Amino acid sequence: MARQKILITGGRGFIGTNLIRRIRDKSPETELVVLDNGSMTVPGLPADATIVDQDGDIRDMAAVRRAASGCTAIVHLAGQTRVVESIQDPVLGFEVNARGTLNVLLAAREAGIEHVVLASTGGAMFGDAAGPIHEDMLPMPSSPYGASKLAMEGYAHAFAGSYGLPSAVMRFANVYGPYSTRKGSIIAHLFRQILAGEPITIYGDGSQARDFVFVDDLCDGIVEAMDVKASGIFHLGSGSPTSLTELLEKVGRVIGPDWPLEVRYAPWRAGEVRRTHTSIAKAARAFRYSPKTGLEAGLQATWQWFLDRER
Ligand SMILES: NC(=O)c1ccc[n+]([C@@H]2O[C@H](COP(=O)([O-])OP(=O)(O)OC[C@H]3O[C@@H](n4cnc5c(N)ncnc54)[C@H](O)[C@@H]3O)[C@@H](O)[C@H]2O)c1
Repeated sequence: MARQKILITGGRGFIGTNLIRRIRDKSPETELVVLDNGSMTVPGLPADATIVDQDGDIRDMAAVRRAASGCTAIVHLAGQTRVVESIQDPVLGFEVNARGTLNVLLAAREAGIEHVVLASTGGAMFGDAAGPIHEDMLPMPSSPYGASKLAMEGYAHAFAGSYGLPSAVMRFANVYGPYSTRKGSIIAHLFRQILAGEPITIYGDGSQARDFVFVDDLCDGIVEAMDVKASGIFHLGSGSPTSLTELLEKVGRVIGPDWPLEVRYAPWRAGEVRRTHTSIAKAARAFRYSPKTGLEAGLQATWQWFLDRER
């Protein structure tokens, strides 16, 4: 990675925390600025004197402008991230994901930023799809969250076309790993329930499948895309779907017999996506994206992190 000064919006959340560790490992000389409003930060993170932390909101243009000043690249992770919350309050999703992203792109243009990476979503962009989802498919978001991310993608494309601002939109699959303690995603939920000795509820019969990608693999993809200044839309997942039944089997093996894994089944929820399967071929071609962590190994690392946190 060339010497850079990178602004990471939302850098104190789940993916941002992992990305910072990854960048630190690969290129310790890279300067990092984080803009985060503290709404969903990972609890208990130690202060890091090597990072310029700016407490601010992406909806505040002055704050974004200050944070972007002097940077060479931006990774834009800050966002309203919850589908259910977006259904309850569609305006918030718009303000944060559409308007907030417009601020980030405006600030990038003003600051002469060389490259922007933006976090979008695969699942919420397509809902149920028969085969693997890929970049040539027409997005059909079924939640305000998905719609706000699609607006974000549109602005990124428009800023490339109108102002020559290169950007890579990354549509993430279901990301899991350490530092996910506050996440509502299935794997974080499973581990929290197991540690609390609480049962796990599966809606439907467990046949619904998701593409689970280990956060280190995803972060490597982000870093590789920055290295080559990739531009366009890319799907970042593991490339293969796993049913919840298979996931539970693997989780059972990872936690071992000393921990309870009580599963209860409830009727399907309306609108439940039955299958998400991501094609990662375009990212593989563009920046050699190649997730390496098998699901069981990733679950093991994540479980170990949850256990260490408990102690
Ligand atoms: N985790 C996943 O599986 C997944 C899947 C698809 C897309 N994404 C996208 O990736 C990005 C990062 O996800 P994550 O899982 O790390 O989320 P997260 O909620 O853990 O982190 C988001 C961070 O952004 C900050 N933030 C939220 N609103 C902000 C605002 N208005 N201004 C400034 N900071 C703000 C939060 O405090 C938090 O630190 C999000 O944009 C999300 O939509 C994540």
